[in-house]
Amino acid sequence: MAVRKVGHNISGSRGATPASLAYGCGVGAVRLRWAALRQGSLLSLSAAPLLETRVNGAAPDRRGKVRDIYEVDDALLMIATDRISAFDYVLGSGIPDKGKVLTQLSAFWFERTRRIVANHVITTDVHDYPASLRRDVDILRGRSMLVTRTEPIPVECVARGYLSGSGWKEYVATGAVCGIALPEGLRESDRLPQPLFTPATKAQSGHDINISEDEAGRIVGAGLIAELKALTLDLYAFGVAHAESRGIILADTKFEFGRLPDGRVLLIDEVMTPDSSRYWPRDRYEPGGPQPSFDKQFVRDYLEQIRWNKQPPVPSLPDDVVRRTREKYVEAYQRLTDRELQ
Ligand SMILES: Nc1ncnc2c1ncn2[C@@H]1O[C@H](COP(=O)(O)OP(=O)(O)O)[C@@H](O)[C@H]1O
Ligand SMILES: [Mg+2]
Repeated sequence: MAVRKVGHNISGSRGATPASLAYGCGVGAVRLRWAALRQGSLLSLSAAPLLETRVNGAAPDRRGKVRDIYEVDDALLMIATDRISAFDYVLGSGIPDKGKVLTQLSAFWFERTRRIVANHVITTDVHDYPASLRRDVDILRGRSMLVTRTEPIPVECVARGYLSGSGWKEYVATGAVCGIALPEGLRESDRLPQPLFTPATKAQSGHDINISEDEAGRIVGAGLIAELKALTLDLYAFGVAHAESRGIILADTKFEFGRLPDGRVLLIDEVMTPDSSRYWPRDRYEPGGPQPSFDKQFVRDYLEQIRWNKQPPVPSLPDDVVRRTREKYVEAYQRLTDRELQ
């Protein structure tokens, strides 16, 4: 299959227009799409992943692990690419449509949580984008947002309803998570007596570090952390209830907040996506070990299978791992939103 090969052309195809450069595929992808349409297999089709973008001929002002960020007047244009990271490294292969899932799922949650907290979304409708972005709408549609620029608050606001990941590791070592003592005898993936606010510092490189609420208060102020804790737990409760109605457990999730010059707090970044959350299918929930995750399970299994040492060079993924991972992201989106991906 052409998925990976096409994706790898992206940064190397000199002289291409920004749009074809970004998709790295041009005519080839159109043919692929057409062939798949004729075979009636659009659902299983994996078009080329979008790994890097150029907008208006220029590289992004900032490149995160997944998002390319452009400064557009006073706002930011955030484009979710199809890059996928594991163990803090961006892997050599992208997952086609992943960026669309992240953007459209975030948009879904931003819309529904507005009553809890104001957020950074200005618009996701490319028709409302400034004229300077018009020529790139084919790249931007469905996977970008124009957002209010804020000063990000340097604490990751994590809510956990279940004992997993770094929370589980900390519990095994200390009997507590982020300084919150827990009952003895809990198993991995057990539901917690009540959801916890477990902040972390955003490390410049490598893993985030869990900190206590008091420590978080020393970084950003006790009053602000109390406010963020309340918002985090409210947002998480909202997400849990909705996911539950779709047969999905939202085990934990991470929010980011930013501040406006006048001090107001906005919800920023991405919201309750598979990248920022642990989603588990309810019907396969079995505490006492790790749970099958909705999204990166095939990727993690593969990386374990090849015994990657979690150091560069980063591996690429075989086509079937890419395809099955894409299907999981799309399935999570469809189940949570009841919508088709645009
Ligand atoms: N409204 C906003 N204002 C300023 N920064 C933002 C805003 N929304 C998101 N960000 C930042 O943009 C980046 C998003 O890109 P991402 O690929 O997720 O990066 P990372 O690798 O840091 O997770 C994050 O660093 C996030 O803090
Ligand atoms: Mg991020």
